[in-house]
Amino acid sequence: MIIEPRTRGFICLTSHPTGCEQNVKDQIAYVQSKGKIEGAKKVLVIGASTGFGLASRITSAFGSDAATIGVFFDKPATEGKPGSPGFYNTAAFEKEATKAGLYAKSINGDAFSNEIKEQVVNLIKQDLGQIDLVIYSLASPVRTHPVSGKRFKSVLKPIGEVFTNKTVDFHTGKVSEISINPAEGDDVANTVTVMGGEDWKMWIDALQAENLLSEGATTVAYSYIGPEVTKPVYRNGTIGAAKDDLEATAFSISEALKSIGGKAYVSVNKALVTQASSAIPVIPLYISLLYKIMKAKGIHEGCIEQIQRLYSERLFGGDVALDEKGRIRVDDWEMREDVQAEIAELWQKATTENLSEIGDLEGYSKEFFKLFGFKVDGVDYDAQVNEVVTIPSIQ
Ligand SMILES: NC(=O)c1ccc[n+]([C@@H]2O[C@H](COP(=O)([O-])OP(=O)(O)OC[C@H]3O[C@@H](n4cnc5c(N)ncnc54)[C@H](O)[C@@H]3O)[C@@H](O)[C@H]2O)c1
Repeated sequence: MIIEPRTRGFICLTSHPTGCEQNVKDQIAYVQSKGKIEGAKKVLVIGASTGFGLASRITSAFGSDAATIGVFFDKPATEGKPGSPGFYNTAAFEKEATKAGLYAKSINGDAFSNEIKEQVVNLIKQDLGQIDLVIYSLASPVRTHPVSGKRFKSVLKPIGEVFTNKTVDFHTGKVSEISINPAEGDDVANTVTVMGGEDWKMWIDALQAENLLSEGATTVAYSYIGPEVTKPVYRNGTIGAAKDDLEATAFSISEALKSIGGKAYVSVNKALVTQASSAIPVIPLYISLLYKIMKAKGIHEGCIEQIQRLYSERLFGGDVALDEKGRIRVDDWEMREDVQAEIAELWQKATTENLSEIGDLEGYSKEFFKLFGFKVDGVDYDAQVNEVVTIPSIQ
């Protein structure tokens, strides 16, 4: 079939298998161009099909020749109906990994559930014995708790008071003001239950209980801080409370891993266009200004550049370099004083009329479509494509 983008707000309902495959190939080529990393050899990535998790899986496999198991929650294609991008990404990843002689298996299902944890435990026992590195990169709006069976929903709201600021509809370029009402009831607790550290700890406990983590095993989860302008809705908001919880969980996991000389880290990453971040009000305007400034300074990075740097210069680079709160920082270039000073200035000025000039709205929009395999250089979108793609290890 011929597949075209069909968007509804910040989601795209279709995705393109050839474009997704090309994205994966481009990321692999980038990692290979940077040379080998003396890193982990057996890697589990939870949230492995898009964004930072996919970049982590690619960097592990093609930077360090690692065997990888990837867990994600994606929709397979059916005849006439494209699958979700993570499904196509993973199909492409497995194909390339197999070509390169690398072990790669994938599990598609709810990572929050006991069943999926059990499947992963069995797969490790059967194929890899033990894991050296666990990347935790889930971004989900909901979680069904495995003990209570209760379904929790996360929200993106400020805490305490109404937050009013500028935002942009990145499809139309219209800059407008929005007001977001503060969290109420159980909003904060629910968001912490979905995006906090409890599930990360449950994964590590499940692996450790079966002795599936090797001596010195490391685990890393991803966090975000960001600038003043997004603070009320991000870091000081409901999602920030979840990130505080995630960051605190790193210490309790490190404590639990002491017996095997292991360590848990949180890496604070840069703001990037992903499916998760497009959904957060105000952030798209910030990102479009940020991209413009970082590109002009020659310090722009995407997911793959971020993770390649995280691995080569921090995790496996001899100096993990933690901040005062014990976190790895690869948002260091985003948070540079000169970058943030320019953001603050442009933020005041940004309007519908000037955003395409002072911001990188075009770059934002292109990145958004690229997430779904559209607008990828070198892909012929007029060509017929087979939408029903399978992931080799999932039959
Ligand atoms: N995007 C950013 O700007 C940014 C910046 C810093 C940190 N982070 C953090 O990085 C992490 C990953 O975010 P992302 O932006 O790469 O998100 P993403 O939406 O691109 O990826 C999320 C992944 O989680 C998987 N997933 C979601 N729910 C699942 C479930 N129930 N079971 C199994 N898999 C599930 C998806 O399939 C996908 O592989 C998050 O913790 C996020 O907060 C993001």
